[in-house]
Amino acid sequence: MGEELKQDIGKSLSTGRAEFHANKRTDWETKWQTGNTQWDAGKPSPALIDLIENEETNKLIPEHGQGLVPGCGSGYDVVFLASKDRHMTGMDFSQTCVDKLVKHLSKDMSSPMITRNFLCAMEPYMRPAWAKKYAEIIQKDGVLITLMYPLDDHEGGPPFALNEQVYNELLSAHFDLIFIKDAVGHPSRIGKEKIAIWKRK
Ligand SMILES: C[S@@+](CC[C@H](N)C(=O)[O-])C[C@H]1O[C@@H](n2cnc3c(N)ncnc32)[C@H](O)[C@@H]1O
Repeated sequence: MGEELKQDIGKSLSTGRAEFHANKRTDWETKWQTGNTQWDAGKPSPALIDLIENEETNKLIPEHGQGLVPGCGSGYDVVFLASKDRHMTGMDFSQTCVDKLVKHLSKDMSSPMITRNFLCAMEPYMRPAWAKKYAEIIQKDGVLITLMYPLDDHEGGPPFALNEQVYNELLSAHFDLIFIKDAVGHPSRIGKEKIAIWKRK
């Protein structure tokens, strides 16, 4: 067994979920190539729309500067958040996904490109790296919006189960939780999804 694989399994096992072995890594590229993209709602997250349209939460989100949507998929949230003064970048490691996205956006260049369903897409051993990266790239007072899903305790994934405590443990060293509420939107997700805003300390 390669050293890297051993390390991955070691990290996986330390989560207490033995089924997350390195050899079960999700093949996102194949999912995109075969159209196995059932998470794709075809529109921006209703919870994100609600955040922007609500006066109280809108003012917590910077209107200027640069935003990033890791694991952006079809990029609906990226396009939705982009504005003249807010430059948004979408990022996804499936080339097929990015090719589709670019083709779609080139039809409407007034729409640039965000994320949700990203932490749940990662095997649990990757979570600390996810949090570390945000702490590195988000400057003091910068904002991180997390659409927390699925908040349950099912086994396996993706999507891998999450809960508020996991987010707190990952983010609280570098971020203050400044807003959280149940997400509005997809009926199948009611009670399993929250939207939160974190501010970099
Ligand atoms: C469940 S999909 C969610 C897509 C989109 N956020 C949405 O809600 O419609 C997860 C996406 O993240 C991408 N992805 C998974 N792990 C990634 C990583 N480590 N870096 C970049 N993209 C990743 C996958 O290719 C896939 O498009």
